[in-house]
Amino acid sequence: MELALRLQQLPPYHFAEYGRKIAEKRAAGVDVISFSMGDPDLPTPPEVLDALDTAAREQANQRYPEYAGMPEFRAATAAWFVRRFGVELDPAREVLPLIGSKEGLAHLPLAVMNEGDVALMPDPQYPVYPTAVALAGGICHYLPLDEEHGWLPDFAAIPADVLARTKTLWLNHPNNPTGACAPLAFFEEAVRFARAHDILLVHDMAYAEVTFDGYKPQSILEVPGAKEVAVEFHSLSKAYNMAGFRIGMLVGNAGIVEGMTRLKSNLDTGIFRPIQIAAMRALALPDEWLAARNAIYQRRRDRLIAACHGIGLEAQTPQAGLYLWARIPAGQTSAQFTLDLLDRTGIALTPGTNFGAGGEGYVRITLTVPDDRIDEAVARMATAVAHS
Ligand SMILES: Cc1ncc(COP(=O)(O)O)c(C=O)c1O
Repeated sequence: MELALRLQQLPPYHFAEYGRKIAEKRAAGVDVISFSMGDPDLPTPPEVLDALDTAAREQANQRYPEYAGMPEFRAATAAWFVRRFGVELDPAREVLPLIGSKEGLAHLPLAVMNEGDVALMPDPQYPVYPTAVALAGGICHYLPLDEEHGWLPDFAAIPADVLARTKTLWLNHPNNPTGACAPLAFFEEAVRFARAHDILLVHDMAYAEVTFDGYKPQSILEVPGAKEVAVEFHSLSKAYNMAGFRIGMLVGNAGIVEGMTRLKSNLDTGIFRPIQIAAMRALALPDEWLAARNAIYQRRRDRLIAACHGIGLEAQTPQAGLYLWARIPAGQTSAQFTLDLLDRTGIALTPGTNFGAGGEGYVRITLTVPDDRIDEAVARMATAVAHS
C-alpha cells in the first residue's frame, strides 16, 4: 500500500537517520559517545516525581483528562509567566497545555495556514517547523541566519510579493541550533513587522530556562501589544529535565489559542492529569534549583569549547540552550566532517545541515552528555589530533 503523497514529500527526519548510523556503529562494537540529541541526561527533580506518583494513585486522575488542560495547570502557567516574565495571561483564554511543545508546533500550521500561504522560516531551524508547514500545505520562504548578523533574520530583505502571501513568521530564541539569544529590541522590531503585514508571530521558547552566566531570556510577550500578533511555545522538557513526560504550553493570542484548542480537541484527549500536576510542581521550583542545574551545563559548555578548539572547531560561547554551534575547518562539508569524526573517534556530532542548508559549515554539539563521557570524548579528541 502506497503512503500518502503528503508523507512521501516530507524529507527524512535527519535525527532518526543519523540515529540509525550511530546504532550501526554500536552494533559493530564501537563505543559511540553521542553529542547529537538535546535530550537532558540529568534527573527529574524528586519533588516532581513524588507529585506524579501521588497523583497517579488517585482514581479520579486515571480517567480521561480535560481537552484543554486542567484549569489548575493553566493557572499555574499564568502565575509562572508573571513571576518569570512580568506578563499577565488569562488562564482560560491565553494558555493551552500541550503534549510537549513539538506537538503544538507541529499542529499550529493546520490551525492557521491555508494551502499556498507562506511561512517565513529561519535557516537553519528546528526541523519540525518546515515539516509542519508542508503538512498543512504551506510554503516556506527561508530567512538566512548568519554569524555576521548575530544569527538574527533580516526582515527588510523579504520581497514584497512574498510578504503579501505570508501568514506566519517563526522565531526561536534562545535558538536551536545556533544558540542565538534575541534582545527585546529585536522582538519589538518583529512585533512591529508582524503588525504592519498582518502576520502571526510564532515564537518557540523551549530553552527559556537553560541559561548561563546569569543571562535571563525575555519573552516576546513582554513587548507591549504582542498578544495581538504573537503566540509563544514553552516546554518543561529542557527546563526541568522532563523530556519524557511530554508536556509544554502554548500562550498568547486568544484567537489562536482557541483555534488550537478546537483542533486538538478533535485530535487528542488532553494530557494525563498526573503529568500536569507534576509540571505544576516543577514550575513552582525555586530559582536556586535552576541555577544549580544550569551550572552543570555551563561547566560542560566551557570544557567542550576548549576541547573543540583542539580539533579545529570554532565554537562560540552560547548564553543559553543545550548546544554549541561550531564552525568546521574550511574545505569540508558538515556531513563529511561528522562522518569522519565518527569513524576516527566514535564521537557523534550533528551536521549543521540537519537544520537546513543554512547550517552548512557548522556542527552542533549537545551539552547533555555526563561528565565522565565528556572526559572520555576530550581524551579521544586529543588522541585524534595527535595522530592526524
Ligand atoms: C527549538 C525546539 N523547540 C521545541 C522542541 C520540542 O520540545 P518538547 O516537544 O520536548 O517540548 C525542541 C526539542 O528539541 C527544540 O529544540
